[in-house]
Formats: sequence, structure tokens, C-alpha cells
Amino acid sequence: MPHATPRGLGRLAFGGDYNPEQWPEEVWREDIALMRQAGVNLVSLGIFSWARLEPRPGAFDFGWLDRVIELLHAAEIRIDLATPTVVPPAWFYREHPEALPVSRDGTRWAFGSRGAICHSSPAYREAITGIVTALGERYGRHPALAMWHVHNEYGVPVLECYCDVSAAHFRRWLAERYGSLDALNEAWGTAFWGQGYGDWEEIQPPRLTPTVANPAQRLDFARFASDSALANFRHERELLRELSPGTPVTTNFMVSPTQCDSMDYWAWGREVDLVTNDHYLVAEEDRNHINLAMAADLSRSVGGGRPWLLLEHSTSGVNWQRRGIAKRPGEMARNSLAHVARGSEGALFFQWRASRAGAEKFHSAMVPHAGTDSRIWREVVQLGSDLGRLAEIRGSETVADAAVVWDWQSWWAQKLEWRPSEDLDTRERAEAFYAALYDRHLTVDFVPPEDGALDGGALDRYPLVVVPALYLASARAGERLRRYVEGGGTLLVSYFSGIVDEHDAVHPGPHPGALRGVLGLTVEEFQPLHAGRAVRLTGSEGVPDLSADTWAETVVTRGAEPVWRYADGPAAGGPAVTRHRLGEGTAWYVSARLGRDDLDAVLALALADARLPDRDELPRDLEVVRRRGGSGAVYLFAINHNDAEVTMPLPGAGVELLTGADVAGKLGVPGGGVRVVRLAG
Ligand code: GAL
Repeated sequence: MPHATPRGLGRLAFGGDYNPEQWPEEVWREDIALMRQAGVNLVSLGIFSWARLEPRPGAFDFGWLDRVIELLHAAEIRIDLATPTVVPPAWFYREHPEALPVSRDGTRWAFGSRGAICHSSPAYREAITGIVTALGERYGRHPALAMWHVHNEYGVPVLECYCDVSAAHFRRWLAERYGSLDALNEAWGTAFWGQGYGDWEEIQPPRLTPTVANPAQRLDFARFASDSALANFRHERELLRELSPGTPVTTNFMVSPTQCDSMDYWAWGREVDLVTNDHYLVAEEDRNHINLAMAADLSRSVGGGRPWLLLEHSTSGVNWQRRGIAKRPGEMARNSLAHVARGSEGALFFQWRASRAGAEKFHSAMVPHAGTDSRIWREVVQLGSDLGRLAEIRGSETVADAAVVWDWQSWWAQKLEWRPSEDLDTRERAEAFYAALYDRHLTVDFVPPEDGALDGGALDRYPLVVVPALYLASARAGERLRRYVEGGGTLLVSYFSGIVDEHDAVHPGPHPGALRGVLGLTVEEFQPLHAGRAVRLTGSEGVPDLSADTWAETVVTRGAEPVWRYADGPAAGGPAVTRHRLGEGTAWYVSARLGRDDLDAVLALALADARLPDRDELPRDLEVVRRRGGSGAVYLFAINHNDAEVTMPLPGAGVELLTGADVAGKLGVPGGGVRVVRLAG
């Protein structure tokens, strides 16, 4: 399990991607002086430097990197040294054009940007062995080395490769998974549309087909792609562990479902010594701090709840978004400290100095094109000093109130074609339920559907478990949720969950196969709604009327009681939202797509069952999160996303760490500002 921290920092980490090879050496000295001014203590170095480090095959040039590292070391700035394996040099592709990945429609991508990698390529494996070994031998024991940054954002911009080499690798992967062709034919349901295989060599990746390809084949290919990249990560990690004993090895994730959809981060989280994540604010989205919070909670969760590290975010606008909306004054600090509140041991950026050339020259940076006489630079310096004041929170852990079940594999399966409605959207439901919990000021851990995947995977420590969209759920996952409810938990499940098994085959019997028992109902028929049409839900006394769109169901209760019924639409008169008392606990089911406010009405009842605190004394968009230290110290973060000052009640007294002020009974948080209180006792 991930548990390491970058070596030798002594404070929260602050810094960013440093790309000195883009600049003449005289700029380096200025860089270092400015880094010291801003309180930078960690930089990610060499991420895209392979062509500079190995300009000709086997001929290395480390001179420039030696000099940069010595300058940083002398300034006591630690190094997160990258292996540059996300961009092999042009000479590599000239020798091995077959290592360029192929898209599903058979197009081979070209060299000239980044991340053009076939993870099944033996030539790529050999080349990365060379450069990683050389780097490990040269710098593996350097005193400035804080950790290793393997590759960059596996899975982005492409992960899957459909070339012949990948096809052969896929067949080996399948043979290991299924053992026999009979088992594969059964798992893939190849009796449908006459797809039965009589020889392993007949199996191909799910390349472009005239109409919908076998969904089980596609799902396995997605798993294979994530596994193949993971195998390359493990290979690099093992080389580095050998040559650089004791130095944490990581790779930067992009766990936000908005930003990367191809990696099974539950599997990846177990393999890194420290979870690191990159997050880019969805600048144009209203209340985008909620998406940020979700990404931060996911980052912590894939590491089993341990502290993690935000390795990249932006000081302001992002060039690859449709509009590079600049951050408002104070927004960068709020973003950084929201990640810290949710478990990050610091805040780093892409990138240190804005590039003059290349595809990302309009991406914001710590040192912008405007130079140091700029708002961004002043805010960077301020943030460095604020993080300095929070050194004592290192190692403390974020306290969660509830759990949300999330699964990348289920998402991959649900997204495939020809589901009962093209409006079904796993990510949208996860975000909607997350937002409802956020608005109730509840901090969330994400959990995988099956236990055993992570340390401390027991659900019973959460009074509430929410399942926003779990189309694919194994019988084991269903059993786990049933035991959780029987033991006294409160479960809240949304529609189109528990429908298929791990092979994308419908569970035997009525829907929702894996969850029928725990929910105390069956779904007789799906009732997807016409685009733009809504249905009304009416409830027993004391509950408000609700409205739903996109999705409804004909539900038959078998132990559960209806709390809301459909008032109109295709399921009129039938149960819409139900409650099932089972053992010591309760399981709620929401069979229709409710908007965020209507969702809150259901959530309120589930929260009451779970006996979770009603935090309605807290203003909307005041983000309140706690971290607890090993010594029992509790740090309360209050991040005000409103323009106006707000006040919140404070449980007892404490010291506000950013201002040094004593506080008691209540806490004022300035508009757009952040307060961090070490609570007494
Ligand atoms: C990340 C990537 C960085 C940089 C950044 C800003 O995804 O790791 O290298 O490209 O985005 O666009």
C-alpha cells in the first residue's frame, strides 16, 4: 500500500514541473533564486528530456542535468526526478516505427507530440530499460533526490493500441485470464452473432467493426490496456528500487473521471509508493470546486486514505481547454488548499516557468510570461508562505463521513454502445451524488465495489454508503453491500446498478441481479424517457414532490416500501423511490434520474437513517474538511468559495494557522479566503 512521503522535505511540498532544458543556462540561476523567494522545495525534473539525455542511441549526455541538479541541491530544493519514458526520441521511432500506437480504426499515430506509445512493444520496453537504468545508476543515491516520477500520466492522451504486436499480447493476456477457449467463448457470450473462436490466433483486439463489437471483448481490451501500461510501470519501478533503494517511486495519476477514463486506478493505487495526482480545474464549469474536491477525495481513496500529493495543477488558465479562463484572485490558493484539506501533502504546478515555444506556451505557470511583477507571481509567493505555515499538518489524515462506491471497470462497461438509453451516464450520476453530499458538507471516501482491494476496506466504519451508478457489479460486490446493510449500515443506490456481472452478462433473473436482495425489489422493465420529457414523483405525507428526467423504471417491491411513486409517465402509479429495512440497516433505491435539488430530498431521509449530522448551519460553498494527526490533533479547513465573508460555528477553540490568531466559538472566513484551525484538545 502507498505510504511513503517525498524524502527530505520537512514541510509541505511546494513547486512544480521544471523544464530547464527549454531555457539557456543563464536563466537557471534566476529560476533558482526565484524558487527560493517563493519557498519552492520540490520540483519535477526531466519529464520530457529523453532526447536531450540520450541524443543518439546509447550515447548519454548527463552534463546539463548534473549542473541543474547541483544548482537545485545547493539551494536545498529537492528533486522529483522523472523517467522521460512518455516521449521516446525521434531516433527511436525511426528505428522502430512499429512502436507507434494504432487507433481502433487502424490509423497509426505519428511522432511529433507526446505519449505515442504502444505498451506492448518489446522495442519500447528495451529502450526504457536503457534510459531508466542509466538514470537510476547516475542519480539513484543523490542526496537531493526526493522521489522518482515514472513516465507522465499513463493513459493520457492514448492508452489503447490496436496494432498486431498488441493483438498477440492481448491473446496471451486472455489465455492467462481464461485458461481455455471454451471459458473465453462462454465469458464473451460468443454464441451471440456467431462469434465463437476455435483457435486463439483468431482473436483480435476489438478493432472497428461494421456495427457494435462484442461488449465483453471490448471490456477485456480496456482491462488489458490498463494492465499493459501497469506492467511497464512496474518494470521501471523495479529497476529504480534496485538502483535507488528507499526512494519512493510514483507516477502522476489523473484520477478525475473528467480528465482520464482509461485507467483502473484501484489497481494502480496499490502499485505506487505514494499516490500523486494531477488535477486541472474545469475552468468554465459553474462551482468547479466540487469537481476538484471529488478528484482530491478519489486521489486519497485510491491510496487507501493515506496522504497523497498534488503533483500538477495550474496557477491560472489552461491552454487545452476550450477557453483558458484565468483564475480569479485567491482562486489558486483555494484550489491548492482544498487539495491539501483532502489529504495532499502540498501543492505543485505545471509548470515553473511559462514556455516560449511549443504546444503549451499559453498555459499558465508559476513564473508567467508577464514576469514577477504580476498578480500570479505575487499569489505564488503568498501560497509558498501559507504552505510553510501549515508544516505541522504533514502526515495527518482526512476524516470522511460517508463512502461512495466507484468503479472504473463498471464505468467502461456502461459507456459501451447500445445500452437502454444513450443518456445513461455513470460519470454524471457519480458527480451528481457527490455534489449532493458536498452540499451537505459531508466528506467522502471512495471505495471499490469489492473488499480486499485496499487496506481497511471494511464498509461498516461508514454510516452511509452511496452507490450512484454501478452497472457492473459482481455477485460478491452485491453480497458485500447486503452484509453492510444487515449489519446496520444505510445504503443509497441509484438506478441501472447491479445489472451485469464482470463479463457484461446480465445476472440471471430479474434486474437488478446483484442488488435485488439488499434492495428488496425487482425491476420489471426499464422505462427510458424521451429526450426533454420529465415525470413527476409524489410521496407520502411530509415529503416534497419531485421531478425526474431521462430514466424511470417499473419497480416491483418485494420487501421494500415505496416512499415516492411515479405520478405520471410510463411507470405511473408504481414505486419510484423505495426504502428496505433489512437486518439492522436500511437500503434506499432511486429508480429515476433526479436533479441535484431533488436528490437532496432523498438524501436527507437517508442521512436521517444513517444518523449523520445535519450541517445546515454551514453556509453553501463554505468547504469544511478535517484532517486528524497521529497525536489526535484536529485541523479544520474552511475554504470560502463565496465572494462575501461568512461565519461558521467552531466546536471549541483553537489557533488559526495562516494568521496565528486565537479563535473560539466561531470562525469568520473572508470572501474567497481560507482558514485552517488547529482545534484545541
Ligand atoms: C498535464 C501534463 C503536463 C501538462 C499539463 C498542462 O496533463 O502532465 O505535462 O501538459 O497537463 O496542460
